[in-house]
Amino acid sequence: MSTHDDGYFDEHVAAGYDDPNAPENDPALIESTTALLAEHARAGSALEFAIGTGRVALPLIDRGVEVHGIELSRAMVAQLRAKPGGAEVPVTIGDMASTRLAERFSLVYLVFNTIMNLTTQAAQVAAFANAAAHLEQGGRFLVETMLPQLQRLPAGETLVPFHVSETKVGFDEYDLVNQGLVSHHIFLDGDAPRRFSLPFRYVFPAELDLMAQLAGMRLVERLGDWDRSPFTAESEKHISVWEKPA
Ligand SMILES: C[S@@+](CC[C@H](N)C(=O)[O-])C[C@H]1O[C@@H](n2cnc3c(N)ncnc32)[C@H](O)[C@@H]1O
Repeated sequence: MSTHDDGYFDEHVAAGYDDPNAPENDPALIESTTALLAEHARAGSALEFAIGTGRVALPLIDRGVEVHGIELSRAMVAQLRAKPGGAEVPVTIGDMASTRLAERFSLVYLVFNTIMNLTTQAAQVAAFANAAAHLEQGGRFLVETMLPQLQRLPAGETLVPFHVSETKVGFDEYDLVNQGLVSHHIFLDGDAPRRFSLPFRYVFPAELDLMAQLAGMRLVERLGDWDRSPFTAESEKHISVWEKPA
């Protein structure tokens, strides 16, 4: 029996991860996501931290970019392997904060809020250092993550809903003292409600910039979304790109 710990993305979660109706799988979003990533790869190869089931990596490979991955969950990688082209993607099982590959890349990317899956500041700082270590001179590190929705918290409250429908309720529970949040997903589509709760460390762009600076990188672009809309006071997420000096 394997003693490997898949973390929160175990076999059950992995089996349900690729919901074609989920907003993150919208073909237009995947198109704009991979277009921006390919541009930042600048004809070089890319490394996806937390590659998961290849939701982004496989369509990026279809654009002609060579993509490698690091991923903690064997169950998520099993889903990737079962997809067309998924068996050929070089993936190393390990922690993106510390796993070191021999190859160097022109782009390292970490999308879909996954920097927040590292629940300590030290681990997030280590992920930036690890990204920089995998970059060629002039290479770029791209992160997509949400903005903490603290303005939406009524005084004294800790809960912010992010999804309410007949089949699912989702809300984030903020821990303002420890810069933490737990995302609760409650599924209402079965015989009985099911709950999946995942802990995160939320982080603002300025702290990420400091982590990049500690890793010897500087900010080259910050966007509000994959469609290249500008980052504004109303943005609910950001896509930030830092560069290792040439
Ligand atoms: C929300 S999924 C994102 C997967 C993929 N990047 C995507 O956009 O669809 C988060 C992924 O991060 C992985 N993960 C969490 N912590 C990790 C770590 N410390 N190192 C590597 N992978 C990690 C999980 O196993 C899971 O596959």
